[in-house]
Amino acid sequence: MALVPYTENSIPVLSKLHNSSAQFRFANHDLHLAQDWNKLGVAAVVWDAAVVMCMYLELGKVELKGKVAIELGAGTGLVGIVAALLGANVTITDREPALDFLSANVKTNLPPDLQGSVVVSELTWGESLERYPADGFDLVLGADIVYLKDTFVPLLQTLEHLCSDTTVVLLACKIRYERDTNFLYMLKQRFRTEEVYYDKQRDIHIYKAWKQTTRRDL
Ligand SMILES: C[S@@+](CC[C@H](N)C(=O)[O-])C[C@H]1O[C@@H](n2cnc3c(N)ncnc32)[C@H](O)[C@@H]1O
Repeated sequence: MALVPYTENSIPVLSKLHNSSAQFRFANHDLHLAQDWNKLGVAAVVWDAAVVMCMYLELGKVELKGKVAIELGAGTGLVGIVAALLGANVTITDREPALDFLSANVKTNLPPDLQGSVVVSELTWGESLERYPADGFDLVLGADIVYLKDTFVPLLQTLEHLCSDTTVVLLACKIRYERDTNFLYMLKQRFRTEEVYYDKQRDIHIYKAWKQTTRRDL
């Protein structure tokens, strides 16, 4: 599957994706994320969903200090970097071709004392999941990862593998097409879900999901 799904961008609102970097301030840190659309496409630009996820994490509604998190489809790594700055130990993952770019962004944006809180690692949804501990994470994060119909089944399989009964999944989603809602429907068959945040300006929804636990009182 190609990493670059679009040809040269002709839509003005997306022109920021062609900038060679994107700047943000989160968790009291100035962050400079390198971007390279021409080389890696969607994996090497910061999407609005990542920005909104970081805004949500900064609100402090989800405890990050001392928690073990994994980010799926991290792209430039903004979300994982901010989660680490807010106190989590984070495994930041994407497909193999994206990893060098991702690692460089992580290295540039984390202070030396926090470099050890992050591991960058390959995770292609649905593949070699045994490399990741089942039930090993407090938090699973994903920004703009619901967009390819062919990946819906392996993505759901990955979430099911990674989650214990106490794991919380946070997905920041731009619902671009009807088909994207199909993933949410599939998610609801396996997880309890709740929309916890909506950014109207960027039209980004954040969904929280957690495994359905068996009722022991029945
Ligand atoms: C739209 S980008 C979002 C990047 C980043 N999370 C953000 O919001 O800025 C989608 C990301 O999902 C990754 N991705 C797509 N298919 C994948 C798969 N089958 N397994 C793992 N990652 C995948 C891409 O490499 C890319 O980094």
